[in-house]
Formats: sequence, structure tokens, C-alpha cells
Amino acid sequence: MGVSRIFKDESLLDLSYVPPRLPRREEELRILRSMFEPILRKPGSVAPRAVVTGGIGSGKTALTQRFGIDFEKEARARGLNFKCIHVNCQILRGSFFMILVETVRRIIPGFPRRGFGANELLDSLLELLEDENLYVLLILDDADSLLVKEGSAPVYALTRVYESKPEMPRRLFPVFVLRDPGLMRDLNHATLSYLRGSIVKLRKYGLDDMIEVLEYRASLALRSGSYLDRTIRLIADMA
Ligand SMILES: Nc1ncnc2c1ncn2[C@@H]1O[C@H](COP(=O)(O)OP(=O)(O)OP(=O)(O)O)[C@@H](O)[C@H]1O
Ligand SMILES: [Mg+2]
Repeated sequence: MGVSRIFKDESLLDLSYVPPRLPRREEELRILRSMFEPILRKPGSVAPRAVVTGGIGSGKTALTQRFGIDFEKEARARGLNFKCIHVNCQILRGSFFMILVETVRRIIPGFPRRGFGANELLDSLLELLEDENLYVLLILDDADSLLVKEGSAPVYALTRVYESKPEMPRRLFPVFVLRDPGLMRDLNHATLSYLRGSIVKLRKYGLDDMIEVLEYRASLALRSGSYLDRTIRLIADMA
């Protein structure tokens, strides 16, 4: 392949690429870290969880992925057996069962799908974490589909999983990523009160935000001189 005069690396513009920095979302990254930081200090005795909401393209996926990667690294550096697992609920058709199968498979590849119900599977996941001495940050991206399909039961199950097991070390930390915060209204009272105080709302990017984000992404992926600041502004304006 010839050397491109425009791209330094075209893959750095891919939707699935997670950039090292997230300009204009630094504060939200900091908030997420402060919410989960107690895990590092008191592993096993705290069970933080979070809901991240924001409109289309507001950076929910990028933010939660960046946070997960960084937090996993930090936890491992402190000697914790820690894994960030990112699942897309939409791709798994909003099925709680499929989401749990996928989660377990990230720990044990090839885990069989048959022979369990969702609740049994959740219990098996908890046992597995215990056996492996593993802590998991479970990012449920596009969780809208999970709420639409299954109502509040899975959110209830995931957030209150340790309530009936006071002796069990806390190892599973869910992050629900939602486009439509209105879906939270359908959650039952107990679940809502449990999640209140753990909600991170991503405000819509304004023009200045867009320009900064685009300039940063262009500087990563494109050769300097191959684009004009004017073009960036134009794109930001149109978005
Ligand atoms: N602050 C930022 N800095 C750099 N890139 C960003 C930032 N915010 C978003 N992006 C990039 O913009 C694109 C859209 O962001 P992302 O996919 O995270 O949005 P989303 O809220 O998950 O959207 P959707 O609701 O469609 O799932 C991605 O390529 C992402 O990497
Ligand atoms: Mg997304």
C-alpha cells in the first residue's frame, strides 16, 4: 500500500477505536473514576454502579470504554484481578440471558449456552468470579434495548445482586449506558433509589466542543497540512 498524503492512520477514525484522550469529557471521566475508586481501596466490600446517559453521538461508548480500559489498568497495577467487560445489549437483542452468556464467555470462552435461566446464570457468574478471585466492571452499552425488552427486572437483579448475600465479596459492578433517560422512569422504586446519585449525564456537545473534538481526532488520524481549520469548523457547524 502506498503512503497516504492525507491519512497518518485511517483506522484511528474508526467508530470502534477508543482515543487515548477525550477532550470535553474529562470531567465525566473524573466523576466515573471517583465513583468506582472505593473498589481500589476496599476491594470486595463496596459495590458501586453507574448509569451513563446522553444523546446519539454524545460520547457514551467512547467515555465508558476509555474509563473501563484505564480503570482496569489502574486496578491491575494495584494487584487486583480486574477485568472490564463491555457488552452491547442491542447486538444481543436486549436479552438479559444472552448478555449474561456473553459476559461469562469473556471469562470462559466457549461456555455453553444451554441449561440455565437468566437468574441461575447470574448466580453462576457470581460463583465464577469468586472461584477466579476476579472483579468485573460490566459495561452494558445500548442498555435501552435491555430495558425495552425485559423491563426493570435485569437492572434490579444486577444492582441489588449482593443484597441477599451479605457475606459475599462484591465483585460485579454494572455500568448501564442509556440513550433515553426516560426509560429510567419505568424502573421500580427500589431500583431507582439505588441508582440515584450514580447517574452521569452527558450534555450535548456545543459548537466549541465539536471543534475541539474534531481538531483532536483529525490531529490523531490525518497528516498536518492535509486539512484546513476552516473545514473542521464547517463540519462542526453542520453536526
Ligand atoms: N470527547 C471526545 N473526544 C474524542 N472523540 C470523541 C469524543 N466524544 C465522542 N467521540 C467520538 O465520536 C464518535 C461518537 O461517539 P460515541 O460512539 O461514543 O457516541 P455514543 O453516545 O455512544 O453514540 P450512540 O448513542 O450512537 O451509541 C466516536 O467515534 C467517538 O470516539
Ligand atoms: Mg454508543
